[in-house]
Amino acid sequence: MEQPTVYVLGGGQLGGMMQVAALELGVNIKFLCKKNDPCTRYNHTIGDVREFRHVVWFGTELVKIPNSFLTIEVENVNHLAVDFLQNQMKVNCNSFANPLSLIQDKLKQKIVLEKNHIPTSTFLTLDSFVNNSDIQQQMIWKTRFGGRDGFGVKIIYSLKEIPDHSVPAILEKKIDLCEEISVIVCRDQLGNMVYYPPVRMEFGKDSNQVEIVEYPAKIRSLKQSKQIQNIAKKTAEVFGCVGLLAIEMFIDNLGQVWVNEVAPRLHNSGHLFTEASNVSQAKNHLLAITGQEIIEPKMNTPIASMINIVGAGEGNNYYFAKDPIVDLLDKNNGNFLVRIYDYAKKGIKDNRKIGHIVILYNGPKKTLDGHDFAIYEELIESAKRIKAYPI
Ligand SMILES: Nc1ncnc2c1ncn2[C@@H]1O[C@H](COP(=O)(O)OP(=O)(O)O)[C@@H](O)[C@H]1O
Ligand SMILES: [Mg+2]
Repeated sequence: MEQPTVYVLGGGQLGGMMQVAALELGVNIKFLCKKNDPCTRYNHTIGDVREFRHVVWFGTELVKIPNSFLTIEVENVNHLAVDFLQNQMKVNCNSFANPLSLIQDKLKQKIVLEKNHIPTSTFLTLDSFVNNSDIQQQMIWKTRFGGRDGFGVKIIYSLKEIPDHSVPAILEKKIDLCEEISVIVCRDQLGNMVYYPPVRMEFGKDSNQVEIVEYPAKIRSLKQSKQIQNIAKKTAEVFGCVGLLAIEMFIDNLGQVWVNEVAPRLHNSGHLFTEASNVSQAKNHLLAITGQEIIEPKMNTPIASMINIVGAGEGNNYYFAKDPIVDLLDKNNGNFLVRIYDYAKKGIKDNRKIGHIVILYNGPKKTLDGHDFAIYEELIESAKRIKAYPI
């Protein structure tokens, strides 16, 4: 059998993580990315994933390559081009073509969840028939297309507060959040699945995007844990993914679990598994889509966190103020692993993700005592202070 070849639509940091896994697995990989994207360091073609011609042109190269597959690292790709590649050119787009058409539109995504009795907050399509009496309480306004990292989501109390009536959107009932968690499922071509353990996501109040991800998530009971796994399994089956599906869930104040949204790709909430488990999300994704055996994730630490490094200001170049964390490591080396990733982006702006830090306990004990836990917490606090500043 030929070495597998994977072409990726998109070339950001998630692509960079696929590149690392591809090297390890002996998979040929190539990215369709914009001229300043991080994956221009690797085998790539310059183009725009939203442009029909660019995607078709890029994907058509696969027709001549045996054992080849197309996948994504962003969702807003041109789906007409993907349909064309899959149906007319017979390019293998199994990893995302099915779920993508349902996921790109948040309305369709909600309908799929509701129809399949997967718990999700109730919602209304925002059309001219909605009036203020439909808004009984705080609602969440969400754009149907292209929202990401909290852009395109707003809490509203009346129709007057809708930011833009010309944008197709839905209104969702606001859930009283206790926790936001994420479960990443990897499904192979035969429908076998493996699950990464739930992690807790904490969002920045100003940025609305994930600031810190923690393992383990605080699950209240065995019953809740089973419920989360059942929901994850059913959701991955319903969307028919091959490869990864990241499922963002809410746990409300009464302990009820709800699905917020899903993503058929590597996810920010899964970065810590590279260090904290035996198999990175990128590796499992590539194994699944290329028809190889997926690996059951096994955690190798009792506790781990991932902190996003974001931009503080605008500029073409940047530096990280790394010193606080490096200081702490020098004093306490041995029991902790701290890894800092720099995505090598060309250009920063406020809150743009520029890198991340993984911190985990790496010592001999199965649980942390008070002293080690204090060090761990201090490392996290130091990591949270690290930003990318323009030069
Ligand atoms: N129905 C809801 N109830 C309460 N909070 C919500 C609801 N929907 C979204 N949010 C909040 O807004 C954030 C972003 O919404 P999400 O739909 O995940 O959009 P994005 O595509 O930007 O990630 C969520 O992580 C959550 O904090
Ligand atoms: Mg989200």
